Amino acid sequence: MSKPVAIVTGAGTGIGQAAAMMFADRGYDVIGVDLSDEALHWASARGIATVVGDVSEEPTSERMVAAALDTFGRLDTVVLNAGIARRSEWEADDVMETFDQIMAVNVRGVVAGIRHAAPAMAARGGGSIVATASTSGLRGDPQRFAYNASKAAVINICRAAALDWGHAGVRVNAMGPGPTMTPILQGGRVTPEHLDELRRNIPLQRLGRPEEQAEVIYFLGSPASSFVTGAVFMCDGGITANAGIFAPTSIPLSEVHH
Ligand SMILES: NC(=O)c1ccc[n+]([C@@H]2O[C@H](COP(=O)([O-])OP(=O)(O)OC[C@H]3O[C@@H](n4cnc5c(N)ncnc54)[C@H](O)[C@@H]3O)[C@@H](O)[C@H]2O)c1
Repeated sequence: MSKPVAIVTGAGTGIGQAAAMMFADRGYDVIGVDLSDEALHWASARGIATVVGDVSEEPTSERMVAAALDTFGRLDTVVLNAGIARRSEWEADDVMETFDQIMAVNVRGVVAGIRHAAPAMAARGGGSIVATASTSGLRGDPQRFAYNASKAAVINICRAAALDWGHAGVRVNAMGPGPTMTPILQGGRVTPEHLDELRRNIPLQRLGRPEEQAEVIYFLGSPASSFVTGAVFMCDGGITANAGIFAPTSIPLSEVHH
């Protein structure tokens, strides 16, 4: 029997790269999608198939699904992970353009991905779609309303798509990373002080690793989660367990009882 096939968008770095590696290491044929050949160099070097394209442009989704069917003859899992996380400040001159860009990549990209992957999977008896949302899809962040809007949209699009495609055996789930050490976090204007502040607000007192996000993506994308659809699975060190009134304690347990 042929291997199962997974597409991963935003596979160039970070969470997408970790997920693409994990599916490949666990017996899947993988197609990595990203903006450039350069970004996907690591994948080609490992013999992973690649599609270069911008997920905000619908033909990219069409091409990646066609690549799976033409190259491998099947499609089991699609990880819609490509995303951008720019700041949006209400009074910035270019805030409307920033809003449009974030919505185009983070939301339009997911819609186009589902639109092309779900029918292809349905025609072959089903499959699993996983979209990378964020803790930012459940709450607001300062100066990031556009990112907040985009990730909330991803969550509800997955819920609605789960209803529309369940009858055909296509599962659609969202997963929500908390702060994770990837270029998206390191590349922005994130200072060491900001990273420390982030850590203090995470009950587990540390940032996530891309591989920890990939484990959740792998679970949702594989048959291990065969009765899970329309779910939002957070992988955030406990951030969203907090009602937000008090910061989680960072006092070592040994000291708490003295
Ligand atoms: N790292 C975090 O702390 C964190 C937290 C919550 C959610 N997320 C989400 O996880 C996902 C992956 O984030 P990451 O941290 O790995 O980011 P990253 O910036 O490290 O990697 C994102 C990848 O997506 C690619 N990409 C960007 N725009 C694209 C487009 N239009 N078309 C195709 N590819 C595109 C980039 O080239 C890059 O390789 C994103 O959706 C992000 O919003 C990340």
